[in-house]
Amino acid sequence: DFSALPDPGEGVFTAPLKRPAHVGEDWLEPAQTDYSAEDDKIWDELFARQMEILPGRACTAFMQGLDKLDLGRGGVPDFGRLSEELGRQTGWSVVPVPMLIPDHVFFWHLANRRFPAGNFIRTRETFDYIQEPDVFHDVFGHVPMLTDPVFADYMQAYGRAGWKAMRYNRLKALGALYWYTVEFGLIREADGLRIYGAGILSGPREAVFALEGESPNRIMLAVDRVMRTDYVIDDLQPTYFVIESFEDLYHQTVERDFDQLYRNLGPGFTYANAAVLDIDNLLHRGTQEYHLRGGRG
Ligand code: PHE
Ligand code: FE
Repeated sequence: DFSALPDPGEGVFTAPLKRPAHVGEDWLEPAQTDYSAEDDKIWDELFARQMEILPGRACTAFMQGLDKLDLGRGGVPDFGRLSEELGRQTGWSVVPVPMLIPDHVFFWHLANRRFPAGNFIRTRETFDYIQEPDVFHDVFGHVPMLTDPVFADYMQAYGRAGWKAMRYNRLKALGALYWYTVEFGLIREADGLRIYGAGILSGPREAVFALEGESPNRIMLAVDRVMRTDYVIDDLQPTYFVIESFEDLYHQTVERDFDQLYRNLGPGFTYANAAVLDIDNLLHRGTQEYHLRGGRG
């Protein structure tokens, strides 16, 4: 039953976030912000910049999702309108939250096919990079993918999977899976590698680096391997993992029982984020020159 907000459970480590006074236990904003003309302009400029880069690099599902949801009609999209359209397509909705929300609340929304999206939009000072996910990252990066029926089911199953990971106290490992799929995933399409990860799709630099760069490793995704792999939070990734199709991802995760896996996992990560292993199905061995130079730039 996913109607009730779960209890993270005794001894489970989740980030200690302070809930703003105006939101309840569900962390939902009573309404989406009234965006200013400048906010809408920032959305339009971010949108136009990504559209210079993404055709031929973003996966087909993403490009079709942008279209189906008409995300380029101008200004920050209205979550009500998006939810109606998404509801028709895959039964998902988009709901406004003030900031990053606690893991167990995030899982609960996903399990109920609600995508919590940051309400605020970045400013000109933080145009190129912000640490906290804003409405551009969340809506432009994540929401188009929710029009794909298989990916939409994966996201819901991921929410449910959070419960089990919390029981085993292995959220860190499940978080790595999210990171290397939902945020930084690549997919093999008939015409070549494409991006489906929102963290890449919503930024100006990483699309070219991830797909065409010599620096990063590109490795076929294997769940046991990925869930043991450390990742970089605030810079380009040393390694990207590639799926064959969304059915491949679904098969490896949703259709597999993770109990055994959690029992065999240690509490920390086993593999460094730049490592290439004997067991890897390697598409490209990265030079890592970007990170060897010190990263960030
Ligand atoms: N099938 C996994 C389990 O048994 C759940 C899962 C679904 C994990 C989707 C990740 C993504 O726990
Ligand atoms: Fe994200």
